[in-house]
Amino acid sequence: MRGFGERNQLERSQAIRHRFLNAMVERSVTISVLMLHLVVFGLGAYLTYNEEITLGTFITFESVFWELSYNIGHVTQFIPVTITASGATRHINDIFEEPSRSQDSPDAPGVPRIQNAITFRNVQFSYGGDTRQIRNLNLTIPEGSRVAIVGPSGSGKSTVLSLLLRLYDPTGGTIRVDDTDIVQSRRDSLREQMAIVFQDNLLFDISIRENIRLGNPAASDEDVERAAKAAEIHRFIRSLPNGYDTVVGERGNMMSGGQRQRVAIARALVRDPAILLLDEATSALDHGTEQAINRTLMKVAAGRTMITVTHRLHSVTEMDKIFVLEKGRLIEEGTHAELLKRKGVYAALWKQAG
Ligand SMILES: Nc1ncnc2c1ncn2[C@@H]1O[C@H](COP(=O)(O)OP(=O)(O)OP(=O)(O)O)[C@@H](O)[C@H]1O
Ligand SMILES: [Mg+2]
Repeated sequence: MRGFGERNQLERSQAIRHRFLNAMVERSVTISVLMLHLVVFGLGAYLTYNEEITLGTFITFESVFWELSYNIGHVTQFIPVTITASGATRHINDIFEEPSRSQDSPDAPGVPRIQNAITFRNVQFSYGGDTRQIRNLNLTIPEGSRVAIVGPSGSGKSTVLSLLLRLYDPTGGTIRVDDTDIVQSRRDSLREQMAIVFQDNLLFDISIRENIRLGNPAASDEDVERAAKAAEIHRFIRSLPNGYDTVVGERGNMMSGGQRQRVAIARALVRDPAILLLDEATSALDHGTEQAINRTLMKVAAGRTMITVTHRLHSVTEMDKIFVLEKGRLIEEGTHAELLKRKGVYAALWKQAG
């Protein structure tokens, strides 16, 4: 906490300095121009009075001087902006030059499209430091099944998805798609067969069509519409004045949360993923919308493997299997009915959820 306070204080004092210097640059130019102007005016008046120059010369000089100083003043206003922009460009370059975490070797094999199952065997993982966020995890997710990973906040649910997407590699154990160890194979071939929908998905200020196509740049207009139909947002899009060419506004603020989520689902489906990952995809929605979207998701899951991560138990009652995590360990697994019968952690959580 002290570190946070100190950094905040530093940030604050630098922000104040920045503002002060900013204002100084602007004001000092304006003030000196005005001062200079007073001098020119006084001197001009004096010279005209003594008839050393004509009134016409004075007025002409006056207006030229005024115009010139006004423009110079205008240009200097951009100095602070230019400095800020060059700082920002430096930051962007820093990010571009950051090496990726680990490179796949070019002759690593691809991951074939899933046919049997995803298996986690004794998977261990730590983000660094002493604590392990995933401990000895064993999961089997058959192809074509719909499974849920539930558990309290911080239990490692999202981490499981990160490992499957190879955003991180396990520190122990193996994750396989069929017989292929994903760590030994190429990331692009793994991710090609996956799509993920988050709680909050970034929509860009471009047309709905392009927003959906971001999932698969090679998709045709028909592919985009097919995905939107499956996500049950096609009719809404068609009802907009510009249809698929409607620009959605910054972060999609022209649409409701549920509609944005359906666009995100369409974006995932346009990839025709064999494995569909959902991380709290409906958790931020009101109950009715959540249920409606969950029904859509169950439909689009047909023929795919769907892994949904959520703390909302009402969303998972229909799943083929539910895995319950606690502190990175798998503590229970089964269907909703089986887990209720067990009267364990899941049953207790279910009771709490009411
Ligand atoms: N990038 C990270 N670096 C370090 N620790 C992390 C990182 N991401 C998550 N953690 C830690 O790992 C543990 C598991 O986090 P994870 O996000 O998987 O939990 P979760 O079950 O998805 O929780 P929630 O329901 O709140 O989303 C937590 O203790 C968290 O603090
Ligand atoms: Mg999470």
